[in-house]
Amino acid sequence: AATMTATMPPSGKPGHARAQITAKTYRKDRWWVGPVLTTLGLAVFIVYATGRVFQQDHYFVEAHHYLTPFYSPCLALQCEPASAMFGTLPFEFPWFLPYALVSLPFLLLFRFTCYYYRKAYYRSIWQAPTACAVTEPHSSYTGESRWPMVLQNLHRYAFYIAVLISVVNTADAIIPLFHGTGGGFGIGVGNLVLIANVVLLWAYTASCHSCRHAFGGRLKSFGTKPVQYWMWTRISRLNTRHMQFAWITLASLMLTDLYVALVASGTITDLRIFN
Ligand code: FES
Repeated sequence: AATMTATMPPSGKPGHARAQITAKTYRKDRWWVGPVLTTLGLAVFIVYATGRVFQQDHYFVEAHHYLTPFYSPCLALQCEPASAMFGTLPFEFPWFLPYALVSLPFLLLFRFTCYYYRKAYYRSIWQAPTACAVTEPHSSYTGESRWPMVLQNLHRYAFYIAVLISVVNTADAIIPLFHGTGGGFGIGVGNLVLIANVVLLWAYTASCHSCRHAFGGRLKSFGTKPVQYWMWTRISRLNTRHMQFAWITLASLMLTDLYVALVASGTITDLRIFN
């Protein structure tokens, strides 16, 4: 460390300016592919989810109690009665209010402030930085310590709300198992879709950096906390795949919603495996 200090110029002092490079980049590889794909992937989800959330239709299959996660919990007075697990508010929602008014803003906050998504949209959309060794369009950098970026710190609180919403999504995946064709236990493709989706949602939520911190942060020693240590090591392992879960769950959310929408609208019939 001593050698580093001696040889590195103190930043910001006259006479120690950075080399002036006018070229945007000397990179010859297709460094822009990553940012472009990221932007496209996020755009597809945002367009699809926005369209569906405001459609206010085809969100529930009454015969098998399939409720899309985009409408859960359904709270508008016009929600189909069986879909409103927690009851409804006493008024009809206008077109611009999502039926899942209490969960969607927090899920949006959770995803928007997620450490991985930040990296994704900082690099691809905001371009700060665009890529390694590529000039970025911004002349200054203030990090996340000032308004409004300081709000990114809300992530740790959004995590706890996301856990509660995942519990609701879990109920949404389990309840349909008891709505088979004859009314009892039954399994259809829709059940498998809902269950797979909720397992992936839990994987995304449990692999969150804030989750890892909640279990193992600010601790000097795990010596007297074997259970916590066990949890933390499991979460740490999942955490290494957080980026994958972030993308997989965007896809699984869209596919789950699409499946429910297709069955609810009568476009396809739910294939029953048992009852
Ligand atoms: Fe991505 Fe928390 S959900 S870091």
